[in-house]
Amino acid sequence: MTAAFTPLNPFGIEITGASGDHLVRPEAADRCQELLAEHGVVIYRELNIGDDDLVAFTRLLGEPEVARTSEHRHPEIDTITLDPAKTNATLAVYRRGNFHWHIDGATIEVPQKATLLTAREVDPAGGDTEFASTFLAYQALPEEEKARLEGLTVVHSFAAAQARANPDASEEERAAWERVPSRVHPLVWTRRNGRKSLLVGATAGQVVELPEDEGRTLLERLLEWATQPRFVLRHRWRRGDLVIWDNTGMLHRAMPFEPTSRRLMHRTTLIGEEAVA
Ligand code: OGA
Ligand code: MN
Repeated sequence: MTAAFTPLNPFGIEITGASGDHLVRPEAADRCQELLAEHGVVIYRELNIGDDDLVAFTRLLGEPEVARTSEHRHPEIDTITLDPAKTNATLAVYRRGNFHWHIDGATIEVPQKATLLTAREVDPAGGDTEFASTFLAYQALPEEEKARLEGLTVVHSFAAAQARANPDASEEERAAWERVPSRVHPLVWTRRNGRKSLLVGATAGQVVELPEDEGRTLLERLLEWATQPRFVLRHRWRRGDLVIWDNTGMLHRAMPFEPTSRRLMHRTTLIGEEAVA
């Protein structure tokens, strides 16, 4: 079966008829890199890629991050579920953060270049994933607003993201979030090639150069701006789908599903190659 490529709206590309073992070839990985650069999100429908091939393919794309908890034969694979029976119980709580718009690794010096997520089990009722292009969102800003944002920097923290997801957390839990180092990044991320995007999302707590209230209001307004329907792609999962996104230019979030859902994803990530500047 030959693969078919269908560009999506407002961005993204869907590929049907590909197979996991076919993907683990340098030419296929190069093609994927090109698609990722051009479309931002690459969706291989019902690929049913196994863990060995997922890790091999990730390695062909770049340098995989080693997951925080080794729950799989491959230390590169993370378990994405809310069910504490299927993953580390603390992590299961942290994953509630995925319901809020975020960029993976926004609290580290060099955010991950890309994330690969494959559905082992899907939720029968919910659990879609939405993507919002922060390249498109920046581009569409009025010129005077772009000028106003130039030079502003933002504190990104795990605590800010978790406070949204887990508002009823105990003092102990809050103290654990606070132990994760925060990071200051420019609000506008300018790439070596000149492309610019907004670095916002759940981890963004305050703007360094502005009074706290004003900074919060600005960040909320920019997040609302960036996640307007015209910048958003919604993915309805089928079992076996593999979705890869350019994490540097893509906010994403999971749509609601129950903590007891059978929804189960395997994830790998690529170490970032370009620091936020
Ligand atoms: C992630 C993530 C969203 C989802 O794995 O980084 O944000 O829909 N997942 O599971
Ligand atoms: Mn994520």
